[in-house]
Amino acid sequence: MNVLVVKDYEAMSRKGADIISALLTLNGKAVLGLATGSTPVGMYKELVKRNKEGVISFKDVTTVNLDEYYPISPENNQSYRYFMNQNLFNDIDIDKTRTHVLNGLSSDPDKECKDYEDMIESLGGIDLQVLGIGRNGHIGFNEPGDFLYPMTHKTSLTESTIEANSRFFASIDDVPRYSLTMGIGTILNARKIIVLASGKDKKEAVKKMLSNTIDTKCPATLLSLHKDVTVIVTEDCI
Ligand code: PGA
Repeated sequence: MNVLVVKDYEAMSRKGADIISALLTLNGKAVLGLATGSTPVGMYKELVKRNKEGVISFKDVTTVNLDEYYPISPENNQSYRYFMNQNLFNDIDIDKTRTHVLNGLSSDPDKECKDYEDMIESLGGIDLQVLGIGRNGHIGFNEPGDFLYPMTHKTSLTESTIEANSRFFASIDDVPRYSLTMGIGTILNARKIIVLASGKDKKEAVKKMLSNTIDTKCPATLLSLHKDVTVIVTEDCI
């Protein structure tokens, strides 16, 4: 893995935006895999700025998001669809019909996941997948466990993730207990991956991710199987 150590959150956000801008300059029709959470917010702000300045365009870009809570309405302000609209899509020149987020209200989640895989394949795969990393080493909602799933699937959130994400909800009881998420194989099929991490509380997870071992109890370690991963970390995180 290619590791870039940067000073702080702002530098991490700029570096992530640099990589996406370079890709969009080379390929205006790129398929971007996007992530939610507090980590990529600064990078999305930077991308909005560059789009408004006319440096990059999303006019012909397609996006697929990593995951979504289940069940949740896309109108719920804690849904990842709402997050993406607020933090990126509403402020850039993207065609919203080309922004894909798993449907947290699907009555048939297994079919929703299978259709999502087929949709990614029909797009020709993901050119660049953006990832954050959980304090427990999860990527997307692929949580630590005895085994991991290769493809997009419905899964339960672990107690530690429910607790970590409860900061965004009125109470911990409001956090959905399930999610729909790309699998490890879906992520590894992306042609390029960038992982963003900042802050001391991610240090242990980052250390394991970079340890050159594979452990399903730290799903991010599976990224070492991929040939083109760039990890952008802040100084206090490594
Ligand atoms: P965070 O979440 O960016 O809010 O820390 C990252 C993750 O859980 O993948």
